Amino acid sequence: MPRASFLPFSPPWIGDEEIDEVIDTLRSDWITTGPKTKEFERRFAARVDAPDAVAVSSCTDALLVALAALGIGPGDAVFSTTMTFCSTIHVIEHLGARPILVDVDPVTLDLDPDQLEIAVEKVLADGELRPRAVMPVHYAGGPCDMGRIDAIAERFGLAIVEDAAHALPATVGGRTIGDPSAPAGVVRATAFSFYATKNLTTAEGGMLTGPPELLEEARLWSLHGMSRDAWKRYGKGGAWYYEVIRPGFKCNMTDIQASLGLHQLAKLDEMQRRRHHVVERYGAGLAHRTELELPVEPTGTSSAWHLYPIRLHLDRLRIDRAGFIDEMTERNIGTSVHFIPVHLHPYYRDRYRYEADDFPVARREYERLVSLPLHPRLTDDDVDDVVTSIAEIVEQHRR
Ligand SMILES: Cc1ncc(COP(=O)(O)O)c(C=O)c1O
Repeated sequence: MPRASFLPFSPPWIGDEEIDEVIDTLRSDWITTGPKTKEFERRFAARVDAPDAVAVSSCTDALLVALAALGIGPGDAVFSTTMTFCSTIHVIEHLGARPILVDVDPVTLDLDPDQLEIAVEKVLADGELRPRAVMPVHYAGGPCDMGRIDAIAERFGLAIVEDAAHALPATVGGRTIGDPSAPAGVVRATAFSFYATKNLTTAEGGMLTGPPELLEEARLWSLHGMSRDAWKRYGKGGAWYYEVIRPGFKCNMTDIQASLGLHQLAKLDEMQRRRHHVVERYGAGLAHRTELELPVEPTGTSSAWHLYPIRLHLDRLRIDRAGFIDEMTERNIGTSVHFIPVHLHPYYRDRYRYEADDFPVARREYERLVSLPLHPRLTDDDVDDVVTSIAEIVEQHRR
């Protein structure tokens, strides 16, 4: 028997606190970037062990202003994974730099450090581009092998811009993702997403953490390149005065969004407890199914468990991934796929003449990935419905 109602993949969990705070902001005289955004930045930075943070309108923009603040542009090579959302790579294109895609580790689906090293060496050997930065994506909330990636960044003089859209809160090697501590000479910035489906949401929104000098530059880029320091210089009578010192973007966060963020942040730990409970229940209900491979949390890391991507052993089933998703939909269970590798999308495929098998691990694993619902509103009954549905499907279609 399918569920009576559709189980959404990842709806937000918004309470009266968020609603009251938004109303308070709407009734105030200040609705765009103001005191609530400042307070959200301060509390968020403290939560991820960062000295400061810049709130922006999305993770995409946090990545963009981070690269702009690093001075990335034409002639520069920026390395990232093909197993990501397109916008990680788009921002490199927007700045006129060259994205260099890298394959993933078959277990974690995070950027493979060995492949990164090969890619950087190839760029150096070709001699046409300057290797400038690496953008590791903490896939599904599970941190990349940052020990190795930090060492490669140090060796080749790369900046690190972590895409932590999924990784709030997460740790790797004792460091909280968002803490900008880095090997000597390496700059580390981290971008977070507060999109509607994320572990913390402001409907749309993002945050950048990093060392103070980088954040100061990123803040300029996030608001038209206008220098606020000019206001200070001209004192009381000169409040109207500003100077434009960069051709900046416009991606500041509003106090309406920050109103949501302040309360979402306060209940992040509670929301994470619920996520962990769901993850354990999926593990208990699915681990014995030999037709499936479940996500893992490697030693030395703690995952934010943004997603629960399972992989189908297609050789043990008579249906493919599309068939599996159709069967889940028929049973009223929402699922998703993370991600269609970037190099398979026509824009990147055609622009850089990628072949599907240029990144064989990403290509192979993509074919068998399905993300199950994972959010704090799931009840035990909901999780059991997902587990039972999967049991029915694999029993019906196993070879
Ligand atoms: C890995 C990754 N990076 C970046 C983004 C972009 O986030 P935003 O929608 O906040 O710009 C997403 C969004 O889903 C994502 O999954």
